[in-house]
Amino acid sequence: MEKLIIEGGRRLEGSVRISGAKNAALPIMAASLLTNETCTIKNVPALSDIDTMIKILKNLGLSAEKQSGTLILSGSCGKTKASYDLVSTMRASVCVLGPLLGKNRRAEVSFPGGCVIGPRPIDLHLKGIEALGAKIEIKSGYIIAKAKRLKGARIYLGGHFGSSVLATANTMMAAVLAEGVTVIENSACEPEIVDLANFLISMGARIEGQSTPTIKIKGVKKLHGAVHSVIPDRVETGTYMMAGIITGGDVFLKDARPDYIIALIDKLTECGAKIKELPGGLRVQGKKRMKPVAVTTLPYPGFPTDMQAQAMSVLCLADGISVITEKIFPERFIHISELSRMGARIMLEGPHAIIEGVKRLSGARVMASDLRASAALVLAGLAARGKTEISRIYHLDRGYEKLDKKLRGIGASIWREKDK
Ligand code: EPZ
Repeated sequence: MEKLIIEGGRRLEGSVRISGAKNAALPIMAASLLTNETCTIKNVPALSDIDTMIKILKNLGLSAEKQSGTLILSGSCGKTKASYDLVSTMRASVCVLGPLLGKNRRAEVSFPGGCVIGPRPIDLHLKGIEALGAKIEIKSGYIIAKAKRLKGARIYLGGHFGSSVLATANTMMAAVLAEGVTVIENSACEPEIVDLANFLISMGARIEGQSTPTIKIKGVKKLHGAVHSVIPDRVETGTYMMAGIITGGDVFLKDARPDYIIALIDKLTECGAKIKELPGGLRVQGKKRMKPVAVTTLPYPGFPTDMQAQAMSVLCLADGISVITEKIFPERFIHISELSRMGARIMLEGPHAIIEGVKRLSGARVMASDLRASAALVLAGLAARGKTEISRIYHLDRGYEKLDKKLRGIGASIWREKDK
């Protein structure tokens, strides 16, 4: 195992290239199960979650060839069972359920794992495919879905916390090869869902309304191979924006898409950051002391839950009291205890975190608990006085391509060491 060491207090300055989006690439890779022809996916980030998905697809019968950012998936999925050992390590692996069912009319997928951010039910995934005619059985930790035929339906996919990204992805992928028309109401509008829909359309699927809460799919008999380039990662973008801001720096995020992060830009501007769209990317400038704000996480286009932890690190150093309300995963606050070790003052009251800004954080030994919480600790470490050691950084390698190298490129003092 490795740990990250950060010598804090350096102002970050320079340019970082934003990688392809993990959460777009993973369902797109799963969608390649829907055809026997070759799919070429470009701008795929080098992440351990991507490697896990490659293993799952290979296990199902596809062959995979990866050269730098291009992934070529070919062959056909002979098997219908996605094994526990792989699926249980990553939430996104559940999105092989829809394509396996769509293509083979049978899928056996282990219950998914993923980051520890509170309960993560799959009732909406099952509701979506059941509405299309699948019979579901839960047996020995596996979801077994079977259908003689899949038939289009009108499906309401809203849950207690709003729309679901991967339930929308699964239902859409099962519906593209169903008979007739499927309408998904309260579908997720996230850019990653739009990217998946665009990939499916390039494979011959007939989809309308992606990016709205009503997606309409007209089933087709067969899909063909396609070439697609994955969209830039909006969470990585936001994380580097906040790395610039928390260090009072000036960074340029090459290939960033401002239209994917409107709510974040709005909030960070309210905090006092200067954010400017330039040709080919986004320039972000922080200042010495940011203003406190109230942040509420919501489904897209609201403020993303995947940037809540990082925003908390920024607000720990703001000039006053901020409030963060988590409306997607109300228990996604494990980072609070670790930030407190660094001198942060945060009180948790149900899904509300009340943050009293302090003048400075001080480096400490902390432990990464999940992907975005780990990113929050990195941000805090960059701003803190002294040395921060972050253990269990395999979480970061699941979702941030070459994080330490990219941060070094803009002036951070950060490196890896072996952890005992
Ligand atoms: C996706 O997870 C992302 N993962 C998550 O990013 C992200 O936090 C989340 O969407 C919300 O934006 C991937 O894309 C791989 P949801 P997903 O279903 O689809 C409830 C990261 O850090 N719900 O949209 O699993 C659920 O409990 C990860 O990269 C149900 O009630 O999330 C939550 O409250 C972490 N029933 C809300 O919906 C269901 O069947 C939204 O979750 C499914 C979800």
